[in-house]
Amino acid sequence: MLREAKIEDAQAIQNLICFYSEDGKMLFRALAEIEKSIADFLVYEKHNEIIGICSLKFGWDRLVEIRSLGVDPRYHRQGIATEMIQGSVECALLRDDCDTAFVLTYAVPLFTRFGFEVVDKMLLPQKVWNDCQACLHKDNCDETAMSLSLLPLKKLPLAKPAALKDSAEVLY
Ligand SMILES: CC(C)(COP(=O)(O)OP(=O)(O)OC[C@H]1O[C@@H](n2cnc3c(N)ncnc32)[C@H](O)[C@@H]1OP(=O)(O)O)[C@@H](O)C(=O)NCCC(=O)NCCS
Repeated sequence: MLREAKIEDAQAIQNLICFYSEDGKMLFRALAEIEKSIADFLVYEKHNEIIGICSLKFGWDRLVEIRSLGVDPRYHRQGIATEMIQGSVECALLRDDCDTAFVLTYAVPLFTRFGFEVVDKMLLPQKVWNDCQACLHKDNCDETAMSLSLLPLKKLPLAKPAALKDSAEVLY
């Protein structure tokens, strides 16, 4: 089940981040930082265990970044990241302070199916790169930048995001 994160999920979120940050697949985030931004996280829970995480970072001009997307390796290729991206986009659509979602990713096909397109990473605002200082690959970034305009989707009728309600209804 996809849902908003609660403060008690912070340690499980960090465990998954640590697992993937060890080989540079994800940026390390301190527990205190996760707790402070817990409202920006979605988690996927199965059998009372957090097996998927994702967060949204607002405040890059009118951009929102989908980041810290990770799924427990025992559950790969079961559509969990797909659900988390859909939930994240739906949450972003509810905000009036962003027009475009972007991601830096190693999994281009995962985002292509949502209409994300590859963009020149140099076109992203400079402040985005501040976060990259902690990345193992900061001097040789091998991630692909992709973006999705939210404006056409904002014109569609939107119900409450699936992540924020009990039934996992697909909205678009
Ligand atoms: C990338 C990741 C989040 C995908 O999670 P997932 O739940 O397995 O993804 P899904 O099952 O929703 O995948 C749906 C489709 O996306 C594509 N996809 C999934 N993982 C992919 C990967 N690692 N590379 C390229 N394409 C991928 C495939 O087309 C897949 O469809 P298929 O299984 O029918 O071939 C997961 O592999 C992971 O946690 N990786 C390590 C952390 C990481 O790299 N995070 C950064 C992602 S921005």
